[in-house]
Amino acid sequence: MSAEENFNLYKKCVDVQSIQFSLEDFKRFQKSTNVKIKKDRNCIAILSLTDHEVEIYFIGVLEDLRGRGLGKKLLKSIVSFSKNYGANFITLEVGINNIQARNMYFSFKFIEYGIRKNYYKNSSGIREDAIIMKLNLKT
Ligand SMILES: CC(C)(COP(=O)(O)OP(=O)(O)OC[C@H]1O[C@@H](n2cnc3c(N)ncnc32)[C@H](O)[C@@H]1OP(=O)(O)O)[C@@H](O)C(=O)NCCC(=O)NCCS
Repeated sequence: MSAEENFNLYKKCVDVQSIQFSLEDFKRFQKSTNVKIKKDRNCIAILSLTDHEVEIYFIGVLEDLRGRGLGKKLLKSIVSFSKNYGANFITLEVGINNIQARNMYFSFKFIEYGIRKNYYKNSSGIREDAIIMKLNLKT
């Protein structure tokens, strides 16, 4: 899939006020060996790979199809991928008010271990704290 196609899928899976990545970012991701895009027709995840860690930059499902298990299915495949990759941890940042996502991560035994104050700024200029979450893959 091209960067344009991935970007178009991302735009359909992200809430408009939370768009963080541009087409230029997706072009950069396409060229990078440290970024992995996982997706199917209805959902997409962007992962950053370092030596011992996989960071989830984004995971999203088409709005009309949320709440039907697709997010969990994609996250399960990310956990399997991360174990095979040899990562010790999966980390991520999530908006403090994003209850759906936080619940999903809790159900996979992610723990919350930090907070970044006023980390996100949405398209209306409203700031939101980010919670830092982590899943230990080696226990
Ligand atoms: C977060 C997101 C990916 C979850 O995907 P989804 O397909 O809707 O989620 P699932 O149906 O697989 O449900 C996974 C879990 O999320 C939680 N959840 C889902 N919908 C929820 C809701 N309306 N309220 C509270 N928790 C909810 C539950 O814990 C659920 O597990 P359960 O069904 O065993 O209780 C999806 O809501 C989304 O795309 N949001 C916009 C993008 C985003 O905010 N991404 C996260 C930031 S990185």
